[in-house]
Amino acid sequence: MCGIVGYCGPKRVVPVLLESLRRLEYRGYDSAGIVYLENGKLVKHRAKGKLAKLEAIIGDAIIADSHIGLGHTRWATHGAPTTENAHPHSDCTGELVVVHNGIIENYHSLRDELKTKGHTFTSETDTEVLAHLIEEYLENDLVAAVKKAVKRLEGSFAAGILWAKQPDTLIAVRNQSPLVLGVSDDLGTFLASDIPALLPYTRDVIFLEDMEMAVVTATEHRIYSLETDTEIDREVQKIDWNASMSEKAGYRHFMLKEIYEQPQAITNTVSGRIDLEHGTVNLPEINLSNADLKKIDRIVIVACGTSWHAALVAKYWIEKYAGISVEVDIASEFRYRRLLLNEHSLTIAVSQSGETADTLAGIRSAKKLGSKILTICNVVGSTMTREADGTIYTHAGPEIGVASTKAFISQLAALLLLTLYLGQEKKTLPPGEIRSLGKSLIDSAGMVEDILPRLQEEIKELIEPFYDARDFLFVGRGLNFPIALEGALKLKEISYIHAEGYASGEFKHGPLALIDRNMPVVALVPKDAVYQKSISNVEEIKARQGRLILIGTAGDDSLSSLTDNIIYLPEVDEIINPIIYTLPAQLLSYEIATRRGCDVDQPRNLAKCVTVE
Ligand code: AGP
Repeated sequence: MCGIVGYCGPKRVVPVLLESLRRLEYRGYDSAGIVYLENGKLVKHRAKGKLAKLEAIIGDAIIADSHIGLGHTRWATHGAPTTENAHPHSDCTGELVVVHNGIIENYHSLRDELKTKGHTFTSETDTEVLAHLIEEYLENDLVAAVKKAVKRLEGSFAAGILWAKQPDTLIAVRNQSPLVLGVSDDLGTFLASDIPALLPYTRDVIFLEDMEMAVVTATEHRIYSLETDTEIDREVQKIDWNASMSEKAGYRHFMLKEIYEQPQAITNTVSGRIDLEHGTVNLPEINLSNADLKKIDRIVIVACGTSWHAALVAKYWIEKYAGISVEVDIASEFRYRRLLLNEHSLTIAVSQSGETADTLAGIRSAKKLGSKILTICNVVGSTMTREADGTIYTHAGPEIGVASTKAFISQLAALLLLTLYLGQEKKTLPPGEIRSLGKSLIDSAGMVEDILPRLQEEIKELIEPFYDARDFLFVGRGLNFPIALEGALKLKEISYIHAEGYASGEFKHGPLALIDRNMPVVALVPKDAVYQKSISNVEEIKARQGRLILIGTAGDDSLSSLTDNIIYLPEVDEIINPIIYTLPAQLLSYEIATRRGCDVDQPRNLAKCVTVE
């Protein structure tokens, strides 16, 4: 998804736009562009590729004497990643410009209509239609023209608009794609797709809702509903993140920094929520009364990508410890399926960003059927958290690396907390058991901290004969099946190696045919309840000369008879295995990807937050 930014205020605009775009580049890096008003004229700079290319083109213009402008970093959906398709896009006069995140689904018909009215298009994008549509309605009142134009759009959009003839005003509109204002008495007004872009300047933010428009100047902001055409008074929220949290802090990559921030992410997520003395879990924020909880006989967890893997782990936990049937669904399928949900259902959305379009649509459908909605989310004030009945925030801090790591671990921590809470409320878990399981969760943070440096050194060495492999397979059983899926996803995402994860027991039903002396297979084999079964599956792979990498329990000497490539992890309470066994899966992908010279933080074709279908 694209990242849009805007600024008007006393500061020189170009450095502000570039700094904010730098902090949103994880949202898309196919091209970038800025526009600002200088001496009454709009000045545009655009470049294909990463932001650095644009900075090179801007050069000395960085000191342009301008205090109002817009910027954009692109993840291409309509039109190839070229300079012509880079934002900002202009109308025919060149005096009105727009930057946009989202998809205008009816752009073809609008484009044809505007062409018959004499408009000339210079790009293949859906976005350019918005500039010409506003131009079509524009006389002297920009706000009125934008309102008319936006009402013609179908699809998702967050857009910033600037007109040379109204030189002190920016207009921002939002429908489905996220948009947040940053306000500061001293520094002026900012707009952005996501919070990290604002953090160097302000932590006072205003979230726009769907079908809302903001008209901003350096000293004021007005918000209007595009549905009721009335002005809205929206409260300013203070964000508890700071700018340095979204910087690399000396690490080579955000991903590595975020891997090492996992101990803190676990501690922040569980602190104040488990009372070991009384063996209780406190989660008032889920906002479900005892009566609500008593009514719930079915849980559906909906998510995408890595968050879906966390949801799969939660199914095992909740069914075992709270005795409630749990279904886990991929959001893009869930949203278009006939849902058999009602007021006895609890739909849980797991999402780092809280903005993923498919997951958001999924909970909206579930809500319409009377289901209670709970989100597990990492971004305060994001759309899903505003539409749910309750939210358990994962306090992992801003996650910048496209490949999710600390957010995943904190999702596991939050979902385990929820499991213990449901077991407590459903009286399937006595305080004593909550105390010991809760303690294992709390202690896992220290353990992760202890083993990470050793693990990274071992894995850096271990991957040498494997980093140039064409394919990779991951297998795991029970709680570690989703971790095998996660390991494969991480490797795919950042090293571009074709990798698949499987339930170990499923292997002989087909994937075993893939095994030969060239196929690396990572097998997660902790000493848990299904250990023997896992080892039998590993022996089936060894029998076909598969190149085994085993991740097992420290002291399990039998593993060395199967392979030399072994990563040992400390023995922990089985319930914690998914948290501990994720670490080598993350580090394997990280070390292989860096060894292959891949751009770990900004892998090709991907973006951090998927706000379109
Ligand atoms: C994970 O590394 C990916 N970035 C991606 O699969 C991600 O998990 C997915 O897009 C879901 O995002 P969300 O958690 O923000 O909803």
